[in-house]
Amino acid sequence: MIKASSSDQASGLRNMSLANKTKVIAVTGGKGGVGKTSVSLNTAIALAQIGQKVLVLDADLGLANCDVMLGLRVEKNLSHVISGEAELDDILVEGPYGIKIVPATSGTVDMVDLSPTQHAGLIRAFSEMRTPVDIFIVDTAAGISDMVLSFSRASQELLVVVCDEPTSITDAYALIKILNRDHGVNRFKVVANMVRSMKEGQDLYKKLSLVTDRFLDVTLELTAIIPFDDNLRKAVRRQRAIVDAFPRSPSSVAFKTLAAKINNWPTPTNATGNLEFFLEQLVN
Ligand SMILES: Nc1ncnc2c1ncn2[C@@H]1O[C@H](COP(=O)(O)OP(=O)(O)OP(=O)(O)O)[C@@H](O)[C@H]1O
Ligand SMILES: [Mg+2]
Repeated sequence: MIKASSSDQASGLRNMSLANKTKVIAVTGGKGGVGKTSVSLNTAIALAQIGQKVLVLDADLGLANCDVMLGLRVEKNLSHVISGEAELDDILVEGPYGIKIVPATSGTVDMVDLSPTQHAGLIRAFSEMRTPVDIFIVDTAAGISDMVLSFSRASQELLVVVCDEPTSITDAYALIKILNRDHGVNRFKVVANMVRSMKEGQDLYKKLSLVTDRFLDVTLELTAIIPFDDNLRKAVRRQRAIVDAFPRSPSSVAFKTLAAKINNWPTPTNATGNLEFFLEQLVN
């Protein structure tokens, strides 16, 4: 465990060998209800099923957040860590296949509006975390708030979840545009969700890339096509993840394919993709 005082927290973070290898992935989408939390949790569990140690940061204050979706009991959240009342390891909630979840902060704490002392507390909390993490998934809230933008720009990879509705496409476009124009992000990985066929997924991706190609200088990649799946809703009603409850259902198969792809993404080798970089970006 690394002990870092608030004054030498940055050097403490640089010493984190585990965190340096952590892949940080934000799951976003602009519009509400497109499946960000479903993608975050099911991909996390599918990664855990193939042996990865996964931490999910629930940065979504909405009703259907991670702990609710999995029927988990949460006592403390990130705000208790920021205020120094708890250590990060103590607030982690364990989900299926050993995934760990950092519960959402209460509505009173905005991650982008922290005082310098709170910043230091947050960085120290992550630098002192004893729980090993291979993959860190950040489930963001709906909309294009400062918090969503800062999580998105700080991550190594950004999954943009879209579904085949005009407002989902326009909201995803607006998010991509702001991240590109104001935050220099130029690579986006699209997840087409709730589609009725592979072709619908590809067409959806084409609709989005047609506008981004025309107006922005960004690279989009179609990373996953997740079919509409009644079993996913059934699983949500039972407070289970579909990859756990119905492992052979079409969307489960797609989540596992996405997890295998993520597993093959290169491990960050420099400061542009690890947990340290993520935290520095987040609080700067
Ligand atoms: N592939 C799918 N097939 C069927 N239903 C789905 C699929 N993906 C998500 N859903 C359903 O859509 C609803 C919204 O999903 P989810 O909560 O994951 O979205 P979200 O983007 O995280 O929403 P919010 O913006 O509120 O955080 C849920 O009821 C979920 O069961
Ligand atoms: Mg959500």
